[in-house]
Amino acid sequence: MSENFTFNLKATSGKARLGEITMPRGTIRTPAFMPVGTVGTVKAMYLDQVKEGGADIILGNTYHLMLRPGPERVARLGGLHELIRWPGPILTDSGGFQVMSLSGLRKLDEQGVTFKSHVDGSLHHMSPERSIEIQGLLDSDIQMQLDECVALPNEPREIERAMELSLRWAERCRVAFGNQPGKAMFGIVQGGDQPALRIRSAEGLKQLDLKGYSIGGLAVGEPQAVMLDMLRITLPVLPTEKPRYLMGVGTPDDMLKSVAEGIDMFDCVMPTRSGRHGLAFTRRGKVNIRNARHAEDMRPLDEQSSCPATRDYSRAYLHHLVRSNEALGGMILSWNNLSYYQELMQGIRQAIAEDRFEDFKAETIEMWARGDI
Ligand code: GUN
Repeated sequence: MSENFTFNLKATSGKARLGEITMPRGTIRTPAFMPVGTVGTVKAMYLDQVKEGGADIILGNTYHLMLRPGPERVARLGGLHELIRWPGPILTDSGGFQVMSLSGLRKLDEQGVTFKSHVDGSLHHMSPERSIEIQGLLDSDIQMQLDECVALPNEPREIERAMELSLRWAERCRVAFGNQPGKAMFGIVQGGDQPALRIRSAEGLKQLDLKGYSIGGLAVGEPQAVMLDMLRITLPVLPTEKPRYLMGVGTPDDMLKSVAEGIDMFDCVMPTRSGRHGLAFTRRGKVNIRNARHAEDMRPLDEQSSCPATRDYSRAYLHHLVRSNEALGGMILSWNNLSYYQELMQGIRQAIAEDRFEDFKAETIEMWARGDI
């Protein structure tokens, strides 16, 4: 295993990229889907299943873990990997995004953000430096800069202010992170739906010569076409030899179309959250298992799958579990959904290796459109 953080681009198919990130805790095959483990658990999943399903890396959240159990405590307990029993790479988000979406009262200035905990109402302050310090205490392998993400639609002037602030914070985070050969800190491109601001943000971050680049501020209320336009504008500005991570995205359709633009990494709560709400993702589209038509259907979600959650449990049983609010319903559906997402990424990687990504994308989207579930 490599002592350093390296990204090796192995093949391309159109703009789609097949690659590998190597670092001391493991190798990440890209395009990669990273299951979200916000508070140190991929909700309703055993990490053995997450790994078995094909995940090479999972996410954690600075915001949640700083409030509970606290970064200093996590460090005393041996770090996040040891605590949660995940020896592979962990990526942590910096906290800025979650502060904006979850905490009450917040005040943002050049120094950082002051906010009220959603857990107990206590006041906290986070600067770019403290965010990196916390991510270090958690022993995160891929750390994110602190940034400010604004909702869309928004005033161009407001989008510009947040983008420029994020750029200054990226520099401070880079200094705070220093030189850690086996780890990485990614910058986050902001700029909302404004092409000129996206380009300026990407150029500014490129000058910082970071180990990877995230695309933030998307999937925050804009149509998919706008998101894809922003990728088309932004990605050519970023260095080809560094990984690109589209934050918080998305549906299988979003991911296929973003891989087509050159994205290497994704994360999203969708497979786990919607699993807990009775929604199953399959090769043939989405199934709302609560629907009465499944009540006496003894077929599994997909008899051809190699995942036990997908192949072995009847829709009738899943329907009963979900209708009865049984924890097992959410567990089986989360397992099914994550394994579908990983199967999709594996298909994407194989198609790029064989230079038939466009066909794979069209076939997958067509299969979803046909439904038949
Ligand atoms: N997750 C989804 N979008 C974003 C973003 O713009 N910034 C951060 N830090 N996390 C995100």
